[in-house]
Amino acid sequence: MKKDRKRILVTAGSTIEPIDPVRYISNFSTGLAGYEIAAACAERGHKVCLISGPSSIVPPMKVKVVHVSTAREMMKAIEGLSGKIDCIVMAAAVCDFRPVKEAKRKIKTKRGFSLNLVRNPDIIAGIKPEKEQIRIGFALETGKIENCRKKALRKIRKKGLDLIVLNTKTPSLDPFGAGRKDFALLWKDGREKRLKGITKKAMARILVEEAERMMR
Ligand code: CTP
Repeated sequence: MKKDRKRILVTAGSTIEPIDPVRYISNFSTGLAGYEIAAACAERGHKVCLISGPSSIVPPMKVKVVHVSTAREMMKAIEGLSGKIDCIVMAAAVCDFRPVKEAKRKIKTKRGFSLNLVRNPDIIAGIKPEKEQIRIGFALETGKIENCRKKALRKIRKKGLDLIVLNTKTPSLDPFGAGRKDFALLWKDGREKRLKGITKKAMARILVEEAERMMR
């Protein structure tokens, strides 16, 4: 393998957490950001593994894709990877909670029911950092931009990240799916790069170039 060809793990999409055989809880993630990042990595000649929750997007060429449903499946798929990973890009919108118990049969409406939830494992925080490995996370926050930045910076420390991509949801900004978005790249050393009004494809290309710089 060429020296500057790196092995990159990208996660994408939401996870879904079953309630019964026909229902689940999840979130609005489409997977687009992670798929664009995987595509950008492959275009630049890197060896990419994409671990994806359910998504309707066609996976990019020259990328190994592993499909999963739940957060625990995503975690197992990552644990099952062998060999050194130079960079992890955790773009997946992992469900923070799952139903305590998945009902074996469809829950009947006439009874009415309440849902008890339990925390899912924090996947990226649980991955033991490898030497010289770059760890990139995402933070989707709501509220005032300054508070969003603070929350994202806290996640860098809590999850042992080198860089976090901040994406915000406001009444006028929908972070999900295609279109132009506002992102901020926040580094653990306090550096910041604002990316205003750009597509996820453009953000992905910039992010991969930054990751390459960090892996040098
Ligand atoms: N993440 C993860 N495992 C989880 C939840 C999140 O690995 N169970 C990762 C996401 O892929 C993302 C980063 O952690 O890269 C931040 O995710 P986010 O949902 O913004 O943060 P949480 O830790 O879930 O905090 P909160 O939902 O309270 O904002």
